[in-house]
Amino acid sequence: MSDHIDVTAGRAHPVRQNHAPSTLGARATGATGALNRRLLRRLASQFHRPRGPLGVVAGRIMARRGSNVERNLWLVDLLELEPDHRVLELGPGPGVALAATAERVTTGGLVAVDHSATMLRQTASRNRGLLRDGRLTLIEGRAESLPDDLGRFDRIYAMNVWQFWSDQEAVIASLAGLLAPGGRLVIGYQPRHRAATAADGDAARRCLRDHFTDAGLVDLVDRVFELAPPVNYVIGSRP
Ligand SMILES: C[S@@+](CC[C@H](N)C(=O)[O-])C[C@H]1O[C@@H](n2cnc3c(N)ncnc32)[C@H](O)[C@@H]1O
Repeated sequence: MSDHIDVTAGRAHPVRQNHAPSTLGARATGATGALNRRLLRRLASQFHRPRGPLGVVAGRIMARRGSNVERNLWLVDLLELEPDHRVLELGPGPGVALAATAERVTTGGLVAVDHSATMLRQTASRNRGLLRDGRLTLIEGRAESLPDDLGRFDRIYAMNVWQFWSDQEAVIASLAGLLAPGGRLVIGYQPRHRAATAADGDAARRCLRDHFTDAGLVDLVDRVFELAPPVNYVIGSRP
């Protein structure tokens, strides 16, 4: 994943960096090593906006990698879903969390927004039944400019997406505005860049908490799940 959190004076300021997230390129040497590193850099950039054949590969990695699946299932647990909830996901990627959410939201509705048509196709194919039953709406668009007519949601969540938002504070404020009273926002983040540490996740949580507070969310709770590196979640509710 190509993201990094830089903690400077006062608040934590997330910045984006490009890192090849694997040891494959690092181990190989000479021409093969250089080729691997170039390929890995191109693959890493796909996690921001998957497209084309490499985007399809990135989606398959997200759907099959054990840690990726686990962190999404943990997030769904934190939502404490009810069968009739209306739920919004930002950046579903291949749609793993959405499928788990739908198992619990049996009469309510789901909406997912992603700026990657490639990812929306994978989400659609993983959740065909939901689309057929009219319980899932997929929207190709940016978190920074959501449609005006989305309505209110009981739960809103995003897993490893917020680091890509161009104005994180503004997006979180707009998501808080879409919550029904008592509704819950959960944002998860696992730093994936090379040499990522638990400290990167801690900085992200502090930054998220600041934005949640500024957005008027209350009853903030942090959760950390011990993967390597740890996965961080911040939960907040609309009063
Ligand atoms: C790293 S993937 C995470 C996918 C999934 N949440 C998971 O954890 O498996 C990031 C996803 O967010 C989408 N995305 C990134 N920035 C976005 C933005 N500004 N607006 C909408 N979608 C975005 C990407 O297209 C991609 O599907």
